[in-house]
Amino acid sequence: NLYLYQNQFLPKEQVSISPDDRGYYFGDGVYEVFRVYNGNLFEPEGHYRRLEKSAREVRIPLPYSLERLHQYLTELIQANHLQEGTVYMQITRGAAPRAHPFPPTHTEPVLMAFCNEIARPKSTMEQGITAITADDIRWLRCDLKTLNLLANVMAKQHALDQGAGEVILHRNGTITECSASNFMIIKEGELFTHPANNLILHGITREVVLRLARNLDIVYHERTFTIEDLLSAEEAFISGTTVEVTPIISVDGRRIGTGRPGPVTRKLQQAFEQLIN
Ligand code: PDD
Repeated sequence: NLYLYQNQFLPKEQVSISPDDRGYYFGDGVYEVFRVYNGNLFEPEGHYRRLEKSAREVRIPLPYSLERLHQYLTELIQANHLQEGTVYMQITRGAAPRAHPFPPTHTEPVLMAFCNEIARPKSTMEQGITAITADDIRWLRCDLKTLNLLANVMAKQHALDQGAGEVILHRNGTITECSASNFMIIKEGELFTHPANNLILHGITREVVLRLARNLDIVYHERTFTIEDLLSAEEAFISGTTVEVTPIISVDGRRIGTGRPGPVTRKLQQAFEQLIN
């Protein structure tokens, strides 16, 4: 398994990151997770645009142009013969003795990327998963894909400890998104999802789903909704690079709709399937 480290392709064992890396001290970095289908990056432009925004907003200079990054990731996929899986890439502000201020200007950002061979989540997409709700205690720039994921990690583990598959985050009862996916409900046949503002990650899969909804004449609203709305919804599902479109069949032990994946979710799943094949 070859890693991309700065501009080199190396076996994992030869990737050496400094203990002074600011990613390690402060979570001071940004990242992306891409899907690979049939050896190709899925929706790469969306990911690059988001990476550029995350990096700009936290003021980490990207070490390469987006074209160059794309070349590197394409080479990485080829070198690892990856057909189906994900590519993880992160860029930190670099290594410098621990201090809160930005490091000296000559400090180089540290780029690292690797491939993960993983199958699509077929059985959970088919059967759906359960979820619980939890307070969204994250900061107010959830639109940036930064390495600071402790609140997401804590929330996810809390769900798993309760025997649920995912956690639905809310601020004072208004649902934002999940620990590593966006959230959508179907109410009276129409789709609702949180607006793409500072409180959620602007998911690439979310955009794809809304595009599919448009093509399928499913009316959708990027509008906030509450836990109460969710509990009386006909259907609910999550969207994300790793989960694609996965139905949520119960929340806090209460059935959503019939307690089985619903027809609108199925339609979107089928359209997604066609898109990637
Ligand atoms: N997570 N919301 C959050 C908080 C996320 O971390 C993610 C992705 C999404 C979905 O975004 P997209 O459709 O672009 O994958 C929404 C990645 C997969 C992760 O951290 O592993």
